[in-house]
Amino acid sequence: MRISFCAQTDATPWIAALQQHLPEAQVEVWHGGARPADYAIVWAPPQQFFDEQTELQAVFNMGAGVDALLQRQMRADLPIVRLNDAGMGVQMAEYVCHALIRHTRDFALFEAQAQQGLWQEPPVLDRADFPVGILGLGVLGEPVARAVQQFEFPVLGWSRTPRQLDGVRCLHGQAQLTEFLASTRVLVNLLPLTPQTENLLNHATLSQLQRGAYLINIARGRHVVDEDLLALLDSGHIAGATLDVFRTEPLPAEHPYWRHPRVTVTPHIAGRTVLQDTVLQIASKIRSLQKGEPIEGVVERARGY
Ligand SMILES: NC(=O)c1ccc[n+]([C@@H]2O[C@H](COP(=O)([O-])OP(=O)(O)OC[C@H]3O[C@@H](n4cnc5c(N)ncnc54)[C@H](OP(=O)(O)O)[C@@H]3O)[C@@H](O)[C@H]2O)c1
Repeated sequence: MRISFCAQTDATPWIAALQQHLPEAQVEVWHGGARPADYAIVWAPPQQFFDEQTELQAVFNMGAGVDALLQRQMRADLPIVRLNDAGMGVQMAEYVCHALIRHTRDFALFEAQAQQGLWQEPPVLDRADFPVGILGLGVLGEPVARAVQQFEFPVLGWSRTPRQLDGVRCLHGQAQLTEFLASTRVLVNLLPLTPQTENLLNHATLSQLQRGAYLINIARGRHVVDEDLLALLDSGHIAGATLDVFRTEPLPAEHPYWRHPRVTVTPHIAGRTVLQDTVLQIASKIRSLQKGEPIEGVVERARGY
C-alpha cells in the first residue's frame, strides 16, 4: 500500500507516526511526478496533486473543514474523509468556554481595572440573561454544547436537520433561524462553510440577536460579513466578539479587528490538528477501508460538508 503525504508542514514526524501505525505502508512526501498512491493525507494540496494522483482510493483531510479541499477538481467518486474530532473537540470546548466566561465574568474589565489599581465589583451575573446559541451541532458543535452546559447557561443549537441533545433546545432549518437568533445572547459559530452558510452572519441576522450580544466565531471567516459586524459593534447592539477565523489569514495588519477595543483576535488556533490522534484515526480508517468496512467522516460532497 502506498500513501502520499501532501501538506505544507514538516512531514518528518507525520511520516514516522504513519509508518509506526501502518508498518506495511510505503509513506512518501508528494512531489510533482510522484508515483501513484492508494491513499493520500492532505492539507490544502495543489490542483496538480489531484491531476496526477488518479488512482487514489480515498483522501484524508488533516482537518475537520473541507471547504478549501472541495474547491479542487477531482474524481467524482473519490471519497474525501474529514477528521472526526481527533482531539479537536476538547480544544474547541476550551476555547468557547474561555471566551464565554471571560465575557460574562468581566475578566477584560478586571484586567483594565488592575492596570489602574481599581477595586470595583460588577453586579452578580444571572446566567439566564446569557443564553448561548450554537450554530452547528456537528462533530465539534456537540462537545461545545456539552461543555457550555456544565456552566449552567441556557443552551440552544441550530442545525440543518433535526437534532436531539439532552438539555439543549435544538432548532433547525431556515424556518427556525429567527427564533434561534432572537433567543440567543452569546452566539457560537460552528457551521461548515458551504454556499448556504457563507455570509450567514450579516446585518440582518446579527441584529436579530438579543441586545448586548457576543459573537464567538471559530468556524470560518467567510461566514461573517465583517462590515456588518463592525457596524453592530459600533452601534452597541453587539457588545463584543472573539474571532479565531478570518476571510484573509493571517489577518492583514490594517484590519480594524486588530485595534477594536471589544474584539479579541486569535490566529486560527481554536482546534489544532493533533498529530498522534490524527494519525491513529487515519490509520484505523485505512485498515477498515482495506477490509471493505464502512468508516465515519466521509464528506457528502453535494451538501458541502
Ligand atoms: N478554528 C479552528 O481551529 C477550526 C478547527 C476545526 C474545525 N473548524 C471549523 O469548525 C466548523 C464545524 O466543524 P464540524 O466538524 O463540527 O462540522 P460538522 O460535523 O460537519 O457539523 C456541521 C453542523 O452544521 C450544521 N449545518 C450545516 N449546514 C447547515 C445549514 N445550511 N443550516 C443549518 N445548519 C447547518 C449541520 O447540520 P446537520 O446536523 O443537520 O448535518 C451540523 O450540525 C467547520 O466550519 C470547520 O471548518 C475550525
